[in-house]
Amino acid sequence: MNATTKKSLNIAPANIADYRRLAEKRLPRQLFDYIDGGSYQELSLQNNTNAFDQVLLRQRILRDVANIDTSTELFGNKLAMPVILAPVGLAGSYACRGEIQALTAAQQHNIPFCLSTVSICSLEELHHKTNAEFWFQLYVIRDRSYAIKLLKRAKEAGCTTLILTVDLPVLGERYRDIRNGLSSDPNLWGSIKRGLDIAIHPRWLWNVAIKGKPLVFGNLTDAVPDARSLNDFKAWVDNQFDASMTWQDIHWIRDHWQGNLILKGIMDIDDAQQAVKIGADAIVVSNHGGRQLDGVPATITVLPEIAKVVDQHCKLLVDGGIRSGLDVFKALALGADACLLGRAWAYALAADGETGVSNMLNIINNELNVAMALTGINKIGNINSNVLYKR
Ligand SMILES: Cc1cc2nc3c(=O)[nH]c(=O)nc-3n(C[C@H](O)[C@H](O)[C@H](O)COP(=O)(O)O)c2cc1C
Repeated sequence: MNATTKKSLNIAPANIADYRRLAEKRLPRQLFDYIDGGSYQELSLQNNTNAFDQVLLRQRILRDVANIDTSTELFGNKLAMPVILAPVGLAGSYACRGEIQALTAAQQHNIPFCLSTVSICSLEELHHKTNAEFWFQLYVIRDRSYAIKLLKRAKEAGCTTLILTVDLPVLGERYRDIRNGLSSDPNLWGSIKRGLDIAIHPRWLWNVAIKGKPLVFGNLTDAVPDARSLNDFKAWVDNQFDASMTWQDIHWIRDHWQGNLILKGIMDIDDAQQAVKIGADAIVVSNHGGRQLDGVPATITVLPEIAKVVDQHCKLLVDGGIRSGLDVFKALALGADACLLGRAWAYALAADGETGVSNMLNIINNELNVAMALTGINKIGNINSNVLYKR
């Protein structure tokens, strides 16, 4: 991740850090910061990535690693590797109809893609234009009848797996978004600055803002029929986060969703135990990529203790700071069944659309292969804490 490219020719992206740099060049500052930023002091954001550096591996030799199999099984489906593209809002504003491009790349790599509630492309657009299977993510919103409607639409679009995001009863502030004028309607000078930010990115203006229209929250167009800008949708969504939600609401969701149910945003062993008790099919150990509560541990720091209490009663997924196949390998060694990638695919999408996401997934897969070979592991199921170096 830290390997510098300053002295290279920079002809092709070698890792996710390179995709991050490309995304920074391609996107208006306000959008890049929206992806890249975390809440408050961005401590949780930094913890997530830094913690991976502290996990060390045991190098092993002469163990016949000629045939490495990175495939795994999740909910009865075979995946080419234990990786899922996490729900990331607004992806259609990073690249032209971005969710379709990312889903297409995920489908080619035989891994799941999860559509965010606040995507640009709607459930129906994805279903009709790709005919691919995908997952859907839902926030528990105040308007329960609208939530039911979304669940019904997801089912009709062929989704069999739902991620319910439970770590957003209120919104964490991101200083970068406030400074960029994303949290309120800017004054005249602010509008001019935002306009200039867009004008100096003509490639984005043409490829995304013009060719990628309409830039609306595709799943919510009938909820906010008078919306004239993304800010109007954002205002509706911000007002819909339900701070009164409790575990009872998970029963309510279960009553309306017969497919796989994943609870995303668990960081505590008591909550993990409760999720198992309530019958979740999987949980995602997640701090929302450091975008909610600042100053929490890295997700992989809490992962082993959560793995202990989950004790294989449901699938254990993790996200936060995963930027390489080595990180995926380490997360599996610490107890995860599979990992979600958030910013990694958002950067790659902004940098080079479907090709970028596809190449990023090749990079992750190659790195995972190498990590397995050099620790003497042939199968995903054989990755456990024995591959970790313990002083
Ligand atoms: C730009 C951005 C938008 C996101 N939008 C959503 C969302 O709509 N729903 C959701 O459950 N999580 C959302 N997340 C959180 C991701 O699903 C995931 O938990 C997080 O990105 C993982 O951390 P990482 O980015 O370090 O991989 C978003 C994250 C980012 C960076």
